[in-house]
Amino acid sequence: MEINEDINKVLLTEEQIHRRVMELGAQITKEYKGRKVVMICLLKGAAYFACDLSRAIDMPIRMEFMVASSYGSGTHTSGSVAVHLDIKDNIAGKDVLLVDDIIDSGLTFARVKALLETKNPASIKTVAMCDKKARRQNGLEADYVGFEIPDEFVVGYGLDYAGDYRNLPYVGVLKSSVYGRA
Ligand code: IMP
Ligand code: MG
Repeated sequence: MEINEDINKVLLTEEQIHRRVMELGAQITKEYKGRKVVMICLLKGAAYFACDLSRAIDMPIRMEFMVASSYGSGTHTSGSVAVHLDIKDNIAGKDVLLVDDIIDSGLTFARVKALLETKNPASIKTVAMCDKKARRQNGLEADYVGFEIPDEFVVGYGLDYAGDYRNLPYVGVLKSSVYGRA
């Protein structure tokens, strides 16, 4: 079964993503020159984007990986975050780039950022491949955004539906027939 057959429309092509990743990498390289940067990738979704972005940054940076889920609804950004896999490096005094695949309500970024702030980094900035601005519940603005996208559920390039479709090389919208499928 071909994975592409489940896609209704392509929102971001492989080429568009590549070009934007290179732009963001160049911008970060310029803005962080001479600083000690730790990129923290939120697994699993951001893995594809963060690995590509790290290779578009022309300076030594460290890579750390974290699995975190945020609980509770509403606008309270100080709500709880469960950390299932924590970073290994000490980030005190370092400049952190926190990377996720997509910002929706903004709660994940707000909560993980608040948690990382307790570890005394020199700075923390957020990087998201996609931003669904219309969905924000807390006014959070990411520092670097790959693409602003409409309020649609998207898959590919790390983004999943029920664990699948992360390995699509582009970002697209699923056919509605996929949703009811067992
Ligand atoms: P937030 O905490 O509401 O900002 O949610 C961010 C998380 O929701 C992302 O890390 C994704 O795992 C998930 N998410 C939000 N929108 C989508 C989507 O369109 N496709 C796949 N995952 C999504
Ligand atoms: Mg996620």
